[in-house]
Amino acid sequence: MIKRFFSSTADIPETGDVPRHVAIIMDGNGRWAKNRLMPRVAGHAQGVERVRDMVEACGKRGIEFLTLFAFSSENWRRPQEEVNRLMELFVMALEREVDKMLGNDVRLKVVGDLGRFDQRLRDLIAHGEALTADCRRLTVTVCANYGGRWDILNAMNAWRRDHPDQAEIREEDLAPYLSLAYAPEPDLFIRTGGEQRISNFLLWQLAYSELYFTDTLWPDFDAQALDRAIASYRKRERRFGRTSEQLLER
Ligand code: IPE
Ligand code: IPE
Ligand code: MG
Repeated sequence: MIKRFFSSTADIPETGDVPRHVAIIMDGNGRWAKNRLMPRVAGHAQGVERVRDMVEACGKRGIEFLTLFAFSSENWRRPQEEVNRLMELFVMALEREVDKMLGNDVRLKVVGDLGRFDQRLRDLIAHGEALTADCRRLTVTVCANYGGRWDILNAMNAWRRDHPDQAEIREEDLAPYLSLAYAPEPDLFIRTGGEQRISNFLLWQLAYSELYFTDTLWPDFDAQALDRAIASYRKRERRFGRTSEQLLER
C-alpha cells in the first residue's frame, strides 16, 4: 500500500513555514450578534461570509487543506429554531458557493454523520463534492454533524466489518477509515471566540497539531487574523517527541 501521508506518531512529518493543513473551530457567532443586539442567527449569517474570505485567504497563502467545524454532533441540543436556521444557511451557502469553488480549483468535502440531514441538503452536498472532486489547489472540508468520538468509532466499526477475522487493530489499519483520511494531520488548529477547548472536534487528528486560541469572534476573523495565527505557528518548535538539540542536528 502506498502511504500518502505521514502519521505524526508513526513518522516525523515534514514541516514548513506555511501550514499545509489548518483546522478551525469557528466559534463566537452568537456572542458577536448579541454584542450588536441582534439575534444569534445574524451572527451565523455573518460567519458564512467569513468562511468565504477564509477560503480565499488560504488559497492565496498556499495552504492545501482547510477544515472547518460548522456543526457539531452536540449542536442538535440548541433551540430548534437556531438549528433550522443553521441548516438553511448551509443549503444557501452550498447553492451559492460551489460553482465559485470549482472556478477557483477548490475541492469541497463534507464529513460527519450526514444521515441526520434532510435529503435536499444531502443532495446538495453530494453534488458539490462530485462537481469539485478533481480540484486540487485547496481542499475545504466542512465538518457537519461531526464529532471526534463518532469519527473514531465509525472508523473502528467500518474496519471491523471489512476484517471480521482480524483480532487487533493497529494505527495504520484505522487511519484509512477516518473521515479525513485524504488529508495530512492538521499542522495548525485555530479556535476563535475565546474558549480553550476541543469540543469533540478532531480528537485523533490533532495529536501533534499546534494549538492557537484567540478571543476574536468568528465573524471578525479576517485574513489579518489568519496571518497572526500563522505568525504564531512559525515561532513554534515542532519536536514530535524529540529534544531541541536533536532538531538542531538535522
Ligand atoms: C459557532 O458560534 C457556530 C456554531 C456552533 C454553529 P456559536 O453559535 O457557538 O457562538 P457563541 O459561542 O454562542 O458565541
Ligand atoms: C463548537 O462550538 C462547534 C462549532 C463551532 C461548530 P460550540 O459553541 O458548540 O462549543 P461549546 O459548546 O462552547 O464547547
Ligand atoms: Mg459557541
